[in-house]
Amino acid sequence: MIKTRKATEEDLPKLIRINKEVGLLRPLRLSKLKKIFRDHQPPKGYFVVAEEGKKLIGWGACETRTNWYIHHLYVSAKYQRKGAGTLLLKKMEAQGRRQKKKMAWLKTLHSNWRAVQFYSRNGYKITKIIKNKWGKGKHAFLMKKKL
Ligand SMILES: CC(C)(COP(=O)(O)OP(=O)(O)OC[C@H]1O[C@@H](n2cnc3c(N)ncnc32)[C@H](O)[C@@H]1OP(=O)(O)O)[C@@H](O)C(=O)NCCC(=O)NCCS
Repeated sequence: MIKTRKATEEDLPKLIRINKEVGLLRPLRLSKLKKIFRDHQPPKGYFVVAEEGKKLIGWGACETRTNWYIHHLYVSAKYQRKGAGTLLLKKMEAQGRRQKKKMAWLKTLHSNWRAVQFYSRNGYKITKIIKNKWGKGKHAFLMKKKL
């Protein structure tokens, strides 16, 4: 059974492996992940992991500015399409609601059709295309959902 919980610093080296495995843009270094971890702590943020038994299979991080931003979401390839991504997303959205945020926002690579399908399925709508956001030809879809 897949469960989610708040991440601890001890989880971080294992999360690097998940990130490398699904690698989308550039691999994360542990030092950078530690910074993401520090920057996504309550009350301003939330850093969540998914596990099946004792195995870490995914993670997500979100943060508040005016609205609630989902900054990171990864599920290990072997465990995709088993509901872990949805559980992680729902956990982050619940934190946003707790913070009385009205909207959740995120950016995803325009060519990452799996993620676009996943977010659409979870109620997110594309509101804008940000051209060359992550390099030439790497456009971002800005997506949002009412919390
Ligand atoms: C996007 C991601 C987080 C989804 O996680 P997940 O655990 O597979 O998602 P869930 O099992 O909760 O939801 C599955 C739904 O998402 C969509 N989806 C996910 N993977 C898909 C795939 N390989 N092909 C087609 N649709 C896919 C489908 O709508 C699917 O529903 P279905 O299985 O009933 O068709 C995961 O695929 C991932 O980590 N991808 C690589 C990293 C990434 O793209 N992160 C988002 C960056 S913004």
